[in-house]
Amino acid sequence: MRKKIIIANWKMNKTVSESIRAVTELKNKLSGKQEVEIVVAPPFTSLHPCEIAISGSAILLAAQNVSEFDQGAYTGEVSANMLLDIQCEYVLVGHSERRTIFDETNQIVQKKLKQVLEYEMSPVLCIGESELTRKAQKTFSFIEEQLTECLRGLKEEDLLTFVVAYEPIWAIGTGNTATTSQIQEVHGWIRDFFEKQYGKALGQAIPILYGGSVSETNASEIMKQKDVDGLLVGGASLDPERFVNIIQHC
Ligand code: 13P
Repeated sequence: MRKKIIIANWKMNKTVSESIRAVTELKNKLSGKQEVEIVVAPPFTSLHPCEIAISGSAILLAAQNVSEFDQGAYTGEVSANMLLDIQCEYVLVGHSERRTIFDETNQIVQKKLKQVLEYEMSPVLCIGESELTRKAQKTFSFIEEQLTECLRGLKEEDLLTFVVAYEPIWAIGTGNTATTSQIQEVHGWIRDFFEKQYGKALGQAIPILYGGSVSETNASEIMKQKDVDGLLVGGASLDPERFVNIIQHC
């Protein structure tokens, strides 16, 4: 059985006090045992305060980004070791906003994945096509290139803690959720890719999450798809009540 994971990606939202308020509300509302793993990805400044606020709960912490470098003279960067130090379990790597706004290439994403793995956290590798790519019917070749280049040099044993998130760019923040058949088609393809490259057992074990305009109205249908193992929620995760609603629909 693959584990189910629901991640709240707050992006560049919430001050420290707002973050503490939100995770405390989440913690109180989710006090019972959850069947899915609940993860919160606050901005860097809120990570450590959130770590303290969620202690004693089952909520886990993710960072939204990490440096491709190990340590040293890289002004403004945050290293994998620093994230491990504040108990981050997960790190989002290669989110489409990093790729499109900050020019992160597959090569940079590959270096970031290596850093996360070296410090024994779970990377959440984000992939997904633009509207133009989908309209040109190049979704699968595009995703294949992203996976091939981002995973270059990684071996089967590196992928044991790996998570993939399929986030079609055209569905992010637009309200245009992909249809459940579009989602299952791509998720099934991604699982096949891992089975072919790294063997059936690993392909079957890798959690594949969906992200892109997930809300309380579509979460349950998306989660019913065979190869969907969780959700990466942006806008709808900012309000703890809505996020809890999404979790309860899954
Ligand atoms: P929205 O849920 O706001 O579309 O964002 C999705 C996302 O980018 C999560 O990483």
